[in-house]
Amino acid sequence: MIPIPISRAEALEQDAADPLAERADLFDLPAGVTYLVGHSLGPPPAGARARLSATQADWAGDLVRSWNSAGWIDLAERTGDRLAALIGAQPGEVIVADSVSVNLFKLAAAALPQARTYALFVEEDEFPTDQYIAAGLGGLSGAQVRQLAPGGGFDALKAGGVLIKSAVNYRSAEVADMAAHEREAKRHGTRIIWDLSHATGVLDLKVGADGAVLAAGCTYKYLNGGPGAPSFVYVSNALSGKLSNPLPGWMGHAAPFAFDEKYVPRDGAARFASGTPPILSLAALAGALEALEGVDLTQLQAKARALGALAIARAKAIGLDVPSPAEDARRGAHVSLRIAEGYPVVQALAARGVMADFRAPDTVRFGFSPLFLTYAGVWDAMDALADILASKSWDQPRFHSRAKVT
Ligand SMILES: Cc1ncc(COP(=O)(O)O)c(C=O)c1O
Repeated sequence: MIPIPISRAEALEQDAADPLAERADLFDLPAGVTYLVGHSLGPPPAGARARLSATQADWAGDLVRSWNSAGWIDLAERTGDRLAALIGAQPGEVIVADSVSVNLFKLAAAALPQARTYALFVEEDEFPTDQYIAAGLGGLSGAQVRQLAPGGGFDALKAGGVLIKSAVNYRSAEVADMAAHEREAKRHGTRIIWDLSHATGVLDLKVGADGAVLAAGCTYKYLNGGPGAPSFVYVSNALSGKLSNPLPGWMGHAAPFAFDEKYVPRDGAARFASGTPPILSLAALAGALEALEGVDLTQLQAKARALGALAIARAKAIGLDVPSPAEDARRGAHVSLRIAEGYPVVQALAARGVMADFRAPDTVRFGFSPLFLTYAGVWDAMDALADILASKSWDQPRFHSRAKVT
C-alpha cells in the first residue's frame, strides 16, 4: 500500500517516485487546472486527438471505402478486445456499442429467460438510469421489478431473477465483492448484470476470474474516450452462444452485407451490436486507450486509492463528512464529501482551477484519475477546499447560479 503523505513535501516526494508519473505527458490539460472529474468525463489524451484527425482524413480521402481500407467495420470489435484486457476478459468477450443504458437493457432482456425466476432487481441507490431501465424492461416484458435497499442486492440473489449492480457505486464509491456475489448468484440461478462504469480503466478488474458473465460499462470516464463515447458490453464466451440480443440489428448479424432475410447472430459479445457503430467516437476511444497501453493495473488502482486516501485524510482533518469507505479495498477511485452548500463550493473550487462535480442534494465528488493527477496537486486542491470553506468565499452570487450539468 502506498503511504499517505502528511505534508506537501512528502506529496512531492511521492510524485517523484510515482511509476505512472510520465503518463501525464500523454494528456494536454489546460495549465493551472487540477482535474478531479475524470470519473465523469476524462480529458482528451493526445492519442485520441490524433486518431480523430486521422479518421477525419480517412473519411474525406477514402470516403465510403474507409469501412474496409481503414478497418472501420471491425473497429468496435478490435476496440472491444483491447478493453477486454483492461477488465480481465478474453478476446471476443467485449464489443463496443450504444450507451450503458441501452446495453443494460439488452443484457437484462437477454438474461431474463435464463434466470430461475422472471424478476428484475436493482438497489435504490444505483445510478438512476439502471433503475429506469429495469422499470422500463419490467413494463415491457412483464417481469416483476423489485427495488432493494442499498446493499440489499446480495441477499436478493437467493430469489433468482436478474440483478443489475454497479461494481463501484456512482455516489459513495463503495466497491461490490464481485466474486462473492457471483458465487451466491450461481447457487440460486440468478444472473447479475454488472455496471462497470465507475470501475473500468482504474480498478484491477478480473471479471472472468470472479465469475462475472454479463456487464456493461462506460468509456468516457476513466478511459477518456470523449463526451458520449460509446459503451461496451461484456458477455463471457461460455454464455454468449446461449443469449439472444433483444435488439437484433444488422451489425449483430454474422454477415451483415449478405442482406440475409434470416437473422444469424455473430459469435461472442459481437452479437450484442445492433446498428452502425459511431466511428468518430470509436476512433477517439481507440486512440485514448493508448494512454493505458502497458500500464500495470495494480499500480493504477493503488495510485487512485492512495490519492483518494490523501483526500479523505485531509477532508476529515477539516471536519467534513466523508460517506465514501475509508478502507481502500472497499473504495473505487472517487471520493464523495457531504457538503450542504456543495454546488457553490464546487463553483468556487473551479474558479481556483480545481474541477470537481456536484451530485444533488449534497454530494461533492472528487475523482482520482491516476494517469494524470499528482499527489501535490491533490494536496493543493484540498488546501483550496479548506480555504473556501473556512473563508465562506463560496457564498457569492456568481457561484450560486445553477447550470444544467452539475
Ligand atoms: C454508474 C453509471 N451507469 C450508467 C451511466 C449512464 O451511461 P450512459 O449515459 O452511457 O447510458 C452512468 C453515467 O454517468 C453511470 O455513472
